[in-house]
Amino acid sequence: MAKVKKRYVCQACGSVSHRWQGQCPDCAEWNTLAEDVPATVFSQKHDLSSGGRAVVFEALDAPSEPLVRRPTGLAEFDRALGGGLVPGSAVLMGGDPGIGKSTLLLQTAATVARSGAQAVYVSGEEAAGQVRMRAARLGLSDAPIRLAAATSVRDILTTLGQGEPPALLVIDSIQTMHSDTIEGAPGTVSQVRGCAFELIRYAKENGVALVLVGHVTKDGTIAGPRVLEHMVDVVMSFEGERSHQYRILRALKNRFGAVDEIGVFAMAGDGLEEVANPSMLFLSGREEPLAGSAVFPALEGTRPVLVEIQALIVRLQSGATPRRAVVGWDSGRLAMLLAVLESRCGLNFSSAEVYLNVAGGYRLSDPAADLAVAAALVSALADKPLARQAVWFGEVSLAGEVRPVAHAGLRLRESAKLGFSLGCGPGEVEPDSAALKYRGIKQLSNLVDRVME
Ligand code: TYD
Ligand code: MG
Repeated sequence: MAKVKKRYVCQACGSVSHRWQGQCPDCAEWNTLAEDVPATVFSQKHDLSSGGRAVVFEALDAPSEPLVRRPTGLAEFDRALGGGLVPGSAVLMGGDPGIGKSTLLLQTAATVARSGAQAVYVSGEEAAGQVRMRAARLGLSDAPIRLAAATSVRDILTTLGQGEPPALLVIDSIQTMHSDTIEGAPGTVSQVRGCAFELIRYAKENGVALVLVGHVTKDGTIAGPRVLEHMVDVVMSFEGERSHQYRILRALKNRFGAVDEIGVFAMAGDGLEEVANPSMLFLSGREEPLAGSAVFPALEGTRPVLVEIQALIVRLQSGATPRRAVVGWDSGRLAMLLAVLESRCGLNFSSAEVYLNVAGGYRLSDPAADLAVAAALVSALADKPLARQAVWFGEVSLAGEVRPVAHAGLRLRESAKLGFSLGCGPGEVEPDSAALKYRGIKQLSNLVDRVME
């Protein structure tokens, strides 16, 4: 018999090494490598080239069943999912502890159950009493959810196998589940993988929409092996600052739809409320015009969201190294923008501390934010407020040009709707609203002249 080669799997990222090391060579985490027994040892004797059944090849244009989606009853969740849960699919829901994953899924299970379909909620983290208390707080006690506190996948699947398969099965969380056919404690790579595999197989065979809650490590990836992300059909991330009220549900991967739509929720005393029109949310109370504040019409999928960008510049007297701190934007991008402002526009930030904040705990990923950040920085440096009714958008190149960005028309339309009367952005854009004037800014230096004048 061939010698079984030992292998070691990183518990944080799932990468495989053939010898034990203190630090994972892939994700650089310490003490995360654990021994893992490979399921099968392949050898030359395992020849698979004969003895199988014929595989049927199909034409791409052959008629197929239309994709059915079951709306969850929470419009914002459906929007992020691309229309609703697909029966026979698996969703992985990631998010920081305490962000509201259990709350969201309990609310979802309740709406599904109230609509007459069967919803099963299995909690491996909390006792049934705790879930019941939360349900009471959310006003969901009367929803006919089938609730269980269990962690053994064998028990769960045996029980479910005895009745009608449910429409929705929530497993909170996959890291607490365990399978008695696999060695290791719950939460280890092989357990998480094995349990997820069995649950997903059950869901696919029975047309059940499965939602697995997954914990997130401190660097933001879903804990346990990356393979979990490959095994499921949809990966969602529930984001937000715990100290802020707003939560954003984002699809990171979706086999049934686009990944650029978001759902917006507000965490209130009685659960998550949907925010149907979030475009104003991230504008803080802007009464007095302030230096260093610029409004950016961001786009999340097809949805415009207006966010306020705030910059603060503190001149240092001594020769100490100035700090640069960013919340809600990429710090590398800020460094680049400062360099462009220095070298192309002759501004001097060298002895100044620069702080940049995106209001409301929002995280910007739209590249069109460059011009708005530049406007906030220049306004803070000059200590001159920008025009109060203006919005700014555009990508800035290293040469200091302002580049066109996608969906300028949509950004301007939403800004006009919210009462902004001036759009500043790249090149020529024809705003289709009479209520809004547009000013094309070709070079970053034009912006500087405009603010400094
Ligand atoms: P929870 O759903 O338990 O988060 P997760 O499952 O992602 O760990 O949510 C926990 C937080 O939400 C908790 O700190 C309190 C807050 N919360 C509210 O503000 N209002 C509510 O109605 C509920 C149920 C929770
Ligand atoms: Mg929870």
